Amino acid sequence: MTRDQLLSRLRDIPAAGRIITALDVPDLEAAREMAARLGPAARCVKVGLELFSAAGPEAVHLMRSQDREVFLDLKFHDIPNTVAAAAARASALGASFCTVHAQAGRRALTAAAEALAAAPVAPTAPDGRRPALLAVTVLTSLTAEELQETGPSPDSLTARVARLARLAWDCGCDGLVCSPTDLPAVRAELGGDPLVVTPGVRPAGSAAADQRRVATPADAVAGGADFLVIGRPITRSEDPCRALAAVAAEIQSALSDSPEE
Ligand code: C5P
Repeated sequence: MTRDQLLSRLRDIPAAGRIITALDVPDLEAAREMAARLGPAARCVKVGLELFSAAGPEAVHLMRSQDREVFLDLKFHDIPNTVAAAAARASALGASFCTVHAQAGRRALTAAAEALAAAPVAPTAPDGRRPALLAVTVLTSLTAEELQETGPSPDSLTARVARLARLAWDCGCDGLVCSPTDLPAVRAELGGDPLVVTPGVRPAGSAAADQRRVATPADAVAGGADFLVIGRPITRSEDPCRALAAVAAEIQSALSDSPEE
């Protein structure tokens, strides 16, 4: 499946299905419980480092058996051979998305994109789709000062996000992960084509916690985000199902306000 075909299939998913609820929980049982509390409206869930470290591929199988799409957020950052092989494994699991750090560099990004293009699509993959390869630009928890500490650069944080986004797209990635506050720079650099997934999403009134570069769901969608990753504001709320529905309604109304939709 070419990049264009995959992106157009993903963009056919209705707005309410574009919320990726982060199942940042300590084990499979907690994942099962949270999924039950969220209900069927949680069409797409994130399996990340915490849950995958505890439960491994079983976590993905469980979510696929419930017909939920999986955003496998393991943020690969390694040598090209290892990154490519890990991407192929993500494909075999039937994940809809997998992530790689753009900082892994040109050869690792290209190798991962080529591995996904060549890997057979898993029988469990939704809609016969291979996983979309998303490059993480600059973590939404990082401030400009923290970034200077680990990699001093004359670039502003935003310029660095745009540069990494350009690199990832040119290497064949399907899109990228960035903060909603980076969206204007990313869309100015690359236009509307790359799939953009934004974490760092905070409905009005919810705590930022460790996130630093945040925006509301409505602002993220208005800024051009295709999918939103949201964890604690949904999963730590008293009623996760209701919190998810509130975010879906906010997105829907942002889309109906948008002149392009
Ligand atoms: O709970 P919260 O909404 O902050 O969760 C955000 C999720 O998005 C976490 O699972 C985190 O790992 C993920 N993420 C992020 N920033 C990135 C990439 C992924 O916060 N740049």
